[in-house]
Amino acid sequence: MSSDLHVDGVTKHFGDVRAVDDVSFTVEEGTFVTLLGPSGCGKTTTLRMIAGYETPTTGRVTLGDRDITDEKPYQRPTSMVFQSYALFPHKTVGENVGFGLKMRDVPSEERDRRVAEILELVELPGTEDRAIDELSGGQQQRIALARSLVIEPEVLLLDEPLGALDLKLRKNMQVELKDLQEELGITFVYVTHDQEEALTMSDEIVILNDGRIEQRGTPAEIYESPRTRFVAEFIGDTNLLDGTYVATDSGAYLECGSVEFPVEPNPAAESGATLSVSIRPEKVSLEESAARNGGSTETDITLDGVVDDVIYQGNVAKIHVRIGDSELISERHVVNSTDLPTPGSECRVRWTKEHADVLVE
Ligand SMILES: Nc1ncnc2c1ncn2[C@@H]1O[C@H](COP(=O)(O)OP(=O)(O)O)[C@@H](O)[C@H]1O
Ligand SMILES: [Mg+2]
Repeated sequence: MSSDLHVDGVTKHFGDVRAVDDVSFTVEEGTFVTLLGPSGCGKTTTLRMIAGYETPTTGRVTLGDRDITDEKPYQRPTSMVFQSYALFPHKTVGENVGFGLKMRDVPSEERDRRVAEILELVELPGTEDRAIDELSGGQQQRIALARSLVIEPEVLLLDEPLGALDLKLRKNMQVELKDLQEELGITFVYVTHDQEEALTMSDEIVILNDGRIEQRGTPAEIYESPRTRFVAEFIGDTNLLDGTYVATDSGAYLECGSVEFPVEPNPAAESGATLSVSIRPEKVSLEESAARNGGSTETDITLDGVVDDVIYQGNVAKIHVRIGDSELISERHVVNSTDLPTPGSECRVRWTKEHADVLVE
């Protein structure tokens, strides 16, 4: 029997605040799914409802065929790593890690054995008698993880677990946590507001905005095919071109001030609507000779412009180009910094139609 996790039409009100608004998603057993969104969008509340620390106002949470909506946290095969770690500062590492086993009446001999095993797994073997406040932030994070894993949950819920660590340690831990998830084969539901972290670690990303799901998909789907302006701007950098979307029998295009160019037709967009098109900077290539206008074909868009600014960042450069009333950024890898164009020079930008996403809202 599969133990996919289903969050089904879940809404949570706190008084007048609708923290989570009709959210549904499935997490396939053994996968790593991230809830991503800005502060206040409902990530923690969603996780706490899966863990059993909050009850949904409406909606159900099921694991396989088992409806766990009304079960207490300790009755569920889930375990949560809290943002603040929530360790007992005056208890030892061993007492902290063994706490969940004690609550479940696991005999002390077995408890000691399982605590020792899990401390090995998080690479802090033999630290049972250490005091929590002697440990570094990174070590405390591992203890919080060990304490959640020791009860052998089917689903591990992690609320911004790396938020308190410095950047280098955080990057290392991202890779370690992902490896650990693959090794253990258990389901991870991970919460972060950090888009890079989500792209690095996840099999799938669920993007939340103001209590609702904005889009879900693999990291590549989310990055390469954002459906809304919110997603396009929240994940990575992008160029947004605003204009009038025109759909005809022979194809669609965007009228954008003095320029227009073909776009992939979007059935969700109405002809004549004012909307935005998103093009990732690395999808925009730049040539330094300005050919005469009208170079676009049905699939290759070519527009003449003028280099406004060149921002050198070591391995990459961002070249700002003025095209009519719009500005576009072209990003490229830098091999020789002497090869970069000079501001004021004429140029041509080019992208493929499939890389321009018509955003519906
Ligand atoms: N216990 C609570 N009482 C009242 N409002 C809450 C409570 N918990 C969360 N909220 C509100 O619900 C919204 C979502 O919060 P939260 O789930 O913590 O978001 P996130 O984790 O994405 O930052 C916010 O507006 C927050 O202020
Ligand atoms: Mg939160």
